[in-house]
Amino acid sequence: MPAVLRRDGAPIDAREEIRFKVRELRGPASARKDVSPRVTILMREHVFITGGAGFIGSHLADRLLDLGHRVTVYDNLSTGMREFLDGARKHAGFTFVDGDLLDKGALAEAIGGCELVFHLAANADVRYGTLRPERDLEQNTVATFNLLEAMRKAGLSRIAFASTGSIYGEPKLIPTPEDAPFPLQTSLYGASKLACEGLIAAYCEGFGFASWIFRFVSILGERYTHGHVFDFYKMLRADPTRLHVLGNGHQRKSYLYVADCVTAMLIAIERAKEKVNIFNLGAEEYLEVDQSIATITAHLGLSPRRTYAGGERGWVGDSPFIYLDTRRIRALGWAPTLDLRQAIVRTVDWLKANPWIYERRA
Ligand SMILES: NC(=O)c1ccc[n+]([C@@H]2O[C@H](COP(=O)([O-])OP(=O)(O)OC[C@H]3O[C@@H](n4cnc5c(N)ncnc54)[C@H](O)[C@@H]3O)[C@@H](O)[C@H]2O)c1
Repeated sequence: MPAVLRRDGAPIDAREEIRFKVRELRGPASARKDVSPRVTILMREHVFITGGAGFIGSHLADRLLDLGHRVTVYDNLSTGMREFLDGARKHAGFTFVDGDLLDKGALAEAIGGCELVFHLAANADVRYGTLRPERDLEQNTVATFNLLEAMRKAGLSRIAFASTGSIYGEPKLIPTPEDAPFPLQTSLYGASKLACEGLIAAYCEGFGFASWIFRFVSILGERYTHGHVFDFYKMLRADPTRLHVLGNGHQRKSYLYVADCVTAMLIAIERAKEKVNIFNLGAEEYLEVDQSIATITAHLGLSPRRTYAGGERGWVGDSPFIYLDTRRIRALGWAPTLDLRQAIVRTVDWLKANPWIYERRA
């Protein structure tokens, strides 16, 4: 495998200090801008959220409603949960449409009258892509094309899109900036999302759209329904004495708390005014998978025996090292409010308090 390089071209030693805090990214604490979750974004608007019944989308819906916007959630509930919208339903300005992005008629009907689109609906799991190769193409790329066409026909022209750090494949530049050398794809998920980015940019050029494209690291927090913390806690519920780890446990990953992710998106839409605005969203640190496990088990007071599947990657498309350069979004005045360990603990606490989620995701 090629050496992982820093921005200055120096190789990163795999054994170096794990909490790789990049001070030059942060600057001195005194220079950091305050981060207020009370973003004053946008005039009151009618916002259309695809995937708004999902983990991240439902938090976004809650936040926008709290800020006084009208919100229409369009979601086929394939992985989303009606329960996640219990709070949203209490707002007069909220509408839920049980609809599929592949149903062009229903989509055209639902989107009429909206002003700004957040596109979060997707097959959001990078794993299993090779088991059903058509799924990422249909649910991500074709669905995005349908949405762009529905927008164009309805006269809407502003879209925020949930992309992913997976589009960087296995980057050679760490932390990885938005303008990293054009990446080689390692997953059908990443490839489908990159195709979505391309379509969105082409609609900006061809039809005068404006877009905000967000490349997330793994997101954690309340309503979390998929990912490694979900899987580890599931195993520990079944048997607190054992834990099986995909890969060798040394994969290095960055995460972000869901409320911080929502705040970042709103700040970017308010303050970034290019035709195509692309932002990495992530924390300034990373953890080895083994360190995430240590955080989870210490919080639960458990000491399970760990077994490892082995290898540098847990599955096809699992990047051994994901750590994004977030200077671009930070320059707009954003910073996360929780660190990685705090975000993991919040997630575990939510999973512990909501065991029903495991039956529903079975
Ligand atoms: N969670 C993460 O760590 C993470 C990381 C990077 C990118 N993202 C992206 O963020 C977005 C939200 O992810 P999430 O974690 O909230 O996932 P999620 O699965 O909880 O949410 C996706 C939502 O989209 C809905 N949906 C899926 N296909 C649909 C379709 N054809 N028509 C209508 N609705 C449909 C699902 O029912 C679900 O509510 C996704 O686009 C995902 O790729 C998530």
